[in-house]
Amino acid sequence: MFLAIAVILFCTPFIWWFLFLQKYKSLSVIPGPRPIPLLGNANDLGQTPQAFFNNCSKFMKEYGDVFRLYIADECKIFVANADFLEQIMSSNVHITKSRGYSLLKKFVNYGLLTSTGSKWKTRRKMITPTFHFKILDQFLEVFNASGDILVDKLSQEVGKPSTDLYPYINLFSLDVICETAMGVKMSTQEGENSEFVDSLRGWLDIFMVRFFSAWKRYDSLFKITSEHSLNEHYLNVLQKYSSTVVERRRSEKAQEKKEVTDSDFGIKRKVALLDMLLESEYNQSLTNDDITEEINTFMFEGHDTTTSGICFALLALADHPEVQDRVYEEIEATVGDEKYVTMKQLQDTRYLEMVVKEVQRKYSAVPIVERQLEVDAKICGVDFPKDTTLTLYLYGVHQNEKYFPEPEKFDPDRFLPERQSERHNYAFVPFSAGARNCIGQKFAMLDMKVTLIKILQKYKVSPVPGYKPELGMAAILKSYNGINVRFQRRSHEMK
Ligand code: HEM
Repeated sequence: MFLAIAVILFCTPFIWWFLFLQKYKSLSVIPGPRPIPLLGNANDLGQTPQAFFNNCSKFMKEYGDVFRLYIADECKIFVANADFLEQIMSSNVHITKSRGYSLLKKFVNYGLLTSTGSKWKTRRKMITPTFHFKILDQFLEVFNASGDILVDKLSQEVGKPSTDLYPYINLFSLDVICETAMGVKMSTQEGENSEFVDSLRGWLDIFMVRFFSAWKRYDSLFKITSEHSLNEHYLNVLQKYSSTVVERRRSEKAQEKKEVTDSDFGIKRKVALLDMLLESEYNQSLTNDDITEEINTFMFEGHDTTTSGICFALLALADHPEVQDRVYEEIEATVGDEKYVTMKQLQDTRYLEMVVKEVQRKYSAVPIVERQLEVDAKICGVDFPKDTTLTLYLYGVHQNEKYFPEPEKFDPDRFLPERQSERHNYAFVPFSAGARNCIGQKFAMLDMKVTLIKILQKYKVSPVPGYKPELGMAAILKSYNGINVRFQRRSHEMK
């Protein structure tokens, strides 16, 4: 009897492993490192953001732009090929995010980023008008005002041998997202609301730990770790903050009793994304909790991404003085020494736009996104079973020599209209594409451009000798040894 139980216990995991491989047999045509029975390729990916980043690049070199890995009970297909990406991203069926997104759910719940099916479709339709051109035009005020504070703060760095940009740009981006999403001036750049800032950072740090842990990612196991209570505390602070803002704003609105129509958005005063949700024609069906999950989604998606974009842009400009000179000449010609950057000026700074795009290619802020197949699917001739995880390796496609020769080279001219039109439409997808693309794409481009203009009007950035960023990725691409440049005041400083 004991022997029989022992044999069953010993054999069950191997039977599970055999059935698991059988399920994904059709994907054996896709190359990838050989999995270890039961463990799969968990050890091949690495346990740190840097190792993860380096190993993914290594696998792409070794196995090509579509490769396979078995991680825990998931078969992950990494896709850095534009034809595959087109079929996945343009589909209205394959829109469900992978199980990995569940780590975010305590904060963003089932907001736009993580929801699927009819809930996601209704919300997307509802939220799209909140990123209307007229609203974005108003947000320029926030980008400009917060940018002025940033430029002021950076003056203390002039002449130092090295400045890590990340802390400065991160607080700037937090101020921007809090004011545009919630309508609240947080003044984090001026040292206020430090509990909120610490909680957001703390939660993001623990998120990273869980992302790379084989067992902490499971809620039931995470509960027994020392990080759990701290995580709950951070989440409490964040949730309480946003839900209080939502409640307060709703009751203020009820008092105002002002009708705002969808046709002109009633633009008379500065509104936040939160106001747009409260005023949307669907608002009857949105509870405070519904709105809070969307506001938290904006907070999550909308600050670390733009921080990464601005930081890497300044690093690239420091490393390429000839590009920086061209950008500066364009700023002189279009914006001059004006303090307020307008929408028209942003449209006229075309070279800067190419630079920001090349930064997103070379240092893609969101390096991977994931979908999980809810049905069997044939993609580019390969049969993908239901439950396969599709890891859309955005950083990988941007480094793919097929679409971007000499991918290591920083060359904004890749985005000249004539060169862009020769390229596959899905070769450059930093904001994803198709139904589940980034809703904040225009917001992000304007935010990053205003900030870069303001900084470059005043300062010249140059490289720190011997410094090279140590890139790593989880949800966002980051440098783990700072993003270091040197600041110099421009001799023809614009006011
Ligand atoms: C450089 C800046 C940014 C980049 C590179 C970026 C990139 C992306 C990508 C790749 C996705 C797809 C995610 C996925 O499929 O899992 C996404 C989705 C999303 N982004 Fe962004 N993002 C940026 C800034 C922003 C900003 C500023 C906001 C809000 C103010 C925002 C809000 C969102 C939301 C709500 C979604 C989910 C959309 C949906 O699924 O319908 N993003 N973003």
